[in-house]
Amino acid sequence: MCINDTQLIESSKPEYWEKSYKSGEMGWDIGEPTPVFNRWIQTQKESLSICILGAGNGWDALHFAEKGHKVTAVDFAESAVLNMNVAAAKRGLKLNILHMDIFNLDEIFTNTFDIVLEYTCFCAIDPDQRDVYISLVNHILNPSGKFVGLLFPTDKNLDSDGPPFGVDIDTTLNLFSKYFTVIEKEIPSNSIERRKGREIFVILKKNGN
Ligand SMILES: C[S@@+](CC[C@H](N)C(=O)[O-])C[C@H]1O[C@@H](n2cnc3c(N)ncnc32)[C@H](O)[C@@H]1O
Repeated sequence: MCINDTQLIESSKPEYWEKSYKSGEMGWDIGEPTPVFNRWIQTQKESLSICILGAGNGWDALHFAEKGHKVTAVDFAESAVLNMNVAAAKRGLKLNILHMDIFNLDEIFTNTFDIVLEYTCFCAIDPDQRDVYISLVNHILNPSGKFVGLLFPTDKNLDSDGPPFGVDIDTTLNLFSKYFTVIEKEIPSNSIERRKGREIFVILKKNGN
């Protein structure tokens, strides 16, 4: 899924994010596993292969690995990858941590994962790349795979500056409908305080499965 470098907005480049990691200005980082995903993962009885896009410091990735799931955590910012590796080593956890652009994952994975997990990566990429992102998710999920996402910020206009870029839920689910069907959609009651009512939890399955 090749994107011409000259067309990229600033936040499409790893340097943009690396600067935030280096300066410690990581306003998105909640500093612990996401409560909404904690509740979801508790309901999963079998070991899953889970790919986390734009995994950041890896709170959810580490938590899922601790629960026995096979986790692939992807981020193109060097510090994010370093932080995840250090945290995984400290806790003796095995994860597949990939330092790469998510848009190149289709070169490595086809029909692979049970779950692709999304939190604040969809709002971080260039909104013009959203259809490419969705096609990529479809490509790397196995035929019965699911997209599990906490879509944020649903209260922000897409015309406003980002990241985070606004996520209109109807427009977004319409984009996903090319490959996916909604099986769960809710405004979670256990969002962290500053995101309450501003995010939507979705589970989508591949069409025809
Ligand atoms: C807003 S942060 C969210 C991090 C994490 N999901 C969280 O909720 O804490 C967005 C992350 O996505 C990563 N990212 C953005 N675009 C990416 C891309 N095209 N490929 C890989 N990582 C990307 C950034 O480096 C950053 O770590």
